[in-house]
Amino acid sequence: MPQHHGRTADATPFSVSRSSPVPEAIDELWERRADLSPTDDAARRTVTEAIDLLDSGAARVAAVDQASDEVVVDERARRAILLAFRVLSMRTSEAGPFRYQDRLPLKRRFDRVRVAPGAIARWGSHLAPGVVLMPSYVNVGAHVGAGTLVDTWATVGSCAQIGSNVHLSGGVGIGGVLEPPGAVPVVVEDETFVGSRSVIVEGARVRRGAKLGAGVLLTSSTPVFDADTGEELPRGQAPAWSVCVSSTRLRMFPGGEFGVPCLLVIKRLGEGEEHDKLLLESLFREHGTAL
Ligand SMILES: CC(C)(COP(=O)(O)OP(=O)(O)OC[C@H]1O[C@@H](n2cnc3c(N)ncnc32)[C@H](O)[C@@H]1OP(=O)(O)O)[C@@H](O)C(=O)NCCC(=O)NCCS
Repeated sequence: MPQHHGRTADATPFSVSRSSPVPEAIDELWERRADLSPTDDAARRTVTEAIDLLDSGAARVAAVDQASDEVVVDERARRAILLAFRVLSMRTSEAGPFRYQDRLPLKRRFDRVRVAPGAIARWGSHLAPGVVLMPSYVNVGAHVGAGTLVDTWATVGSCAQIGSNVHLSGGVGIGGVLEPPGAVPVVVEDETFVGSRSVIVEGARVRRGAKLGAGVLLTSSTPVFDADTGEELPRGQAPAWSVCVSSTRLRMFPGGEFGVPCLLVIKRLGEGEEHDKLLLESLFREHGTAL
């Protein structure tokens, strides 16, 4: 049940969830967060249980509510992650000659996923069955849906919500949000394609089935235009079942006219339609994670 409605810099509507699978005890810990430390065993247990819910996928920081089409944020889940940095101790870990020092351990729950050497997923991120991680990075609180491919050097920021059967191409940067409070995570919905080196940040939303060309920059305030009609569409959102490329629009400033980035919708696809150029080898998808 939504508690609070808001907007990111421009058009992305969101609300904050009142019901959360994360235990209420997190609220009480949040109130006294300034006094917490790694010596608080009870607090550490509570926070560990909460992060484990995110890790298993039983809880998630945000999701699209099918009825309202809004992004609903579970603020309690997000707070649990922030609390982890107060109550978990620094630990040294080693992998071959590499040595790390951190409060959050690496993820250990890999249920029918493929994780290529060099890929890093942190505990508290969720990888659904069928996910393939090429050498990439998935941060805490991120949720990656079934059958999604996270290609080489792609980074999925904290709390980002990636749908199922998505292809995040090489070097894609999906922004994370742990702070400021109320910040809306990036949402990349099912069946989407994000072209090489694209950057999707600041609560931007890639709607279902959208295909983004290489090098797209999408923030919550990026203007979006339809190339066929010239119409300006909601900012910060790639429309469902569309093909979009990075573009510029001319804007007058006191110092002259300059081109500033925008997103251009160059094609519309039918619902469920794929783009021939972007199809992955089906063998790769269907058998990629079988044991
Ligand atoms: C967006 C994309 C899917 C469009 O492919 P398409 O539908 O076949 O479209 P076209 O190649 O016919 O291009 C249509 C127009 O958009 C322009 N365009 C295409 N891709 C563009 C891009 N990434 N940025 C800016 N403009 C682009 C083309 O110049 C073309 O303009 P023109 O008609 O004046 O020549 C494709 O160009 C692309 O970027 N693919 C992603 C590649 C990638 O990242 N692969 C990852 C491998 S890990």
